[in-house]
Formats: sequence, structure tokens, C-alpha cells
Amino acid sequence: MSFENLRKVKLGNYPTPLEKMENMTKLLGKGDLYIKRDDATGPAFGGNKTRKLEYLIREAIDTGCTAVLTVGGTQTNHGRTTVGAAVKYGLKPILVLSGKDTGYLSGNLTLDAMMGADIYFVTDPKQTPQVIEDVCEKYAQQGDKVYVIPGGGSNPVGAVGYIKSIEEILKQMEEQQLKIDHLVCTVGSMGTFGGMLLGAKYYNAPFDVIAVPVSPQPKGEKEKQVADFANKVSEQYGMGITITPEEVKIAYGPDDAPYSGEQYNKPDPVTREAIITLAMNEGIMLDPTYTGKTFRAFIDLVKEGDWIKEGESALFLHTGGAMALWTKEHLDDMQDQLRANCKTTEI
Ligand SMILES: Cc1ncc(COP(=O)(O)O)c(C=O)c1O
Repeated sequence: MSFENLRKVKLGNYPTPLEKMENMTKLLGKGDLYIKRDDATGPAFGGNKTRKLEYLIREAIDTGCTAVLTVGGTQTNHGRTTVGAAVKYGLKPILVLSGKDTGYLSGNLTLDAMMGADIYFVTDPKQTPQVIEDVCEKYAQQGDKVYVIPGGGSNPVGAVGYIKSIEEILKQMEEQQLKIDHLVCTVGSMGTFGGMLLGAKYYNAPFDVIAVPVSPQPKGEKEKQVADFANKVSEQYGMGITITPEEVKIAYGPDDAPYSGEQYNKPDPVTREAIITLAMNEGIMLDPTYTGKTFRAFIDLVKEGDWIKEGESALFLHTGGAMALWTKEHLDDMQDQLRANCKTTEI
């Protein structure tokens, strides 16, 4: 079946805004800089997962499921959006999270709890596949049929959301008479980047798509994984498109201070600086785990990278996740810099 015919439910508000970052454009002084606000998709504060979940939730409903289970880290944005999408369509939300139950709900966990998710914390990630099986069995015994969504919603069904997002961007470029040479996004579980690479080729986009990883990667490995993922999706829908690892552009940054930071979700000062730069110039909030890292790369690529040349325009894809700013580890980490960044007066 063509991806064009895949059915979906309505979750998000589209098109998401595509706006010029006037102050960042002035600050960096090289080409026009734009932002695509996929952090504003909704529901449950939205983010990139909404586009994927529209197709996944449709499949859950069409296959007679009554509950939706997904997996991720304790602060998974994908999990929070899945819970929001599930409750909107009357499905029971279940999360299997790798990490400890610290006894304190913050950031995304606050919202998961508010929406009534059943949450299973798995302290040993190796146990996750077995826990998923056991949990599905438990709900089946209670009469539920559970639809299992892979981490990040990144399978051929979810990826359709980002293939189609390219069509939306091209339409906005035409309406606003914009020229965009490069699009910069984040790559984690690959559905967003993989989908966009396919969409860019399928719809003949005039821009290339560059991605920034969220955890350290041996160079060359992710390129192959992304190409394999995209080709699997292409094959499933008979798109007739092949992506080679050489076509997959991943920006790693300097060896001694990679864009990914030291590890997944670990606070780092350069990412924090990028988050504060966008907040102070455009009033837009990023997150410390995904988009902050990508925005640091975006600034770097515009200022001095080989891929974005003098006078070229670039689009930053904001994929959401700002609620991770309100987790204890990131709040603790930011306190000194936030104090230094503002004037406080007690009278
Ligand atoms: C805010 C945010 N941006 C980007 C990503 C990465 O997207 P993908 O998993 O599709 O590669 C994620 C994944 O969880 C995310 O939460």
C-alpha cells in the first residue's frame, strides 16, 4: 500500500508554524534562519511524536485494541505524547520505562501521572522485552487488547508522519515565498530523520536534511542504521527510493566536545548555552536532551560549518520536549547560570 493511503486519526494542529528567527538571523549574520514549530503540535504539549502517533493510534483502533503500551526512558517525551494520544481516543495508556521509581514525579512523569497512565519502571533494561510480554498478558487477562508501539514510535507506520511533513514544509515555503537550503533536525530512534530523508527525496525538496545525534555514536554507524531504516520504510510502501549511508548527513561536532554531549540526557554547559541563546533571542524554549543539542549544532553549522555556506538559509526543526527542563537533574544543573542570567531583587 502507498503511504499516501495510510489512514490516521486527528491529533495535531497543522501546519505547525514555520517562522523566521529574526533575532537569531541578526545575531549570526549569515543567511536567513527559520524554525519549524513541531513543539506546538499538541496534544499533551505535543512534539515530534504527534505526527507519528496519528498513524499508530489509527492502527491501534483499526485492529481492535483497547490499550496502548510504549517504552522509553523515565523522561520519555514519546511516552508522554503517547499517553495524551491514547486518552484522547479512549485507550488505556501503559508505559514501560527503563529506570528507577525515585518516588518523585517530575517533568514528563508529572504529566504521565496526571493523564492516568499505568507506569512500570524496569531497573534492568535487559528485562524490558520480557516485561512488555508479561504486561500485555496481564492486560489481556483483564480483557484488554494491547497495541505495542516501539520506542520513539519509529517504525514504518510512524515514519509516515515525517515523510508527509516535507509536503507541509514545501507548501509553506511556496506560500511564504521562502528559499531554504538546509533543514537541521535531531536523530534518536530515527523515525523523524529517516522519514524526512525519504520525504525530501520523494517530494524533490530543494533542501538537504542534516541530523544531530542525542548520544555519542561511532562515526558511520548511525548513517548505516538510518539508511537501513529508511530503505525498509521505502520498501514497505513501494516508494522506489533508496537512501545510501553516504547520503545520510550527521553532524557530530568537534571530537573533544561533540554535539551529542558526553551521554544521553546528561546536562552539559554548551547545550545549556544554546538553550539560553534561543530563549533570550526568540522567547522559544528548547530541551536539554534533544533540541538543545541540535540547536547548538545549528548555531555552529551556520557560523562555521562546511554544510551551510555564506548566504544560504537554514531551517531548524523544533521537535519539542521542553518539559525535561523541569526535572531535578536539569533544574539543579541550571540554577547558577539562571541566577547569573537574570536580575532578581527582593524588596
Ligand atoms: C524532543 C525530541 N526531539 C527529537 C527526538 C528524536 O526523534 P526520533 O526518535 O524520531 O529520532 C525525540 C525522541 O524521543 C524527542 O523526544
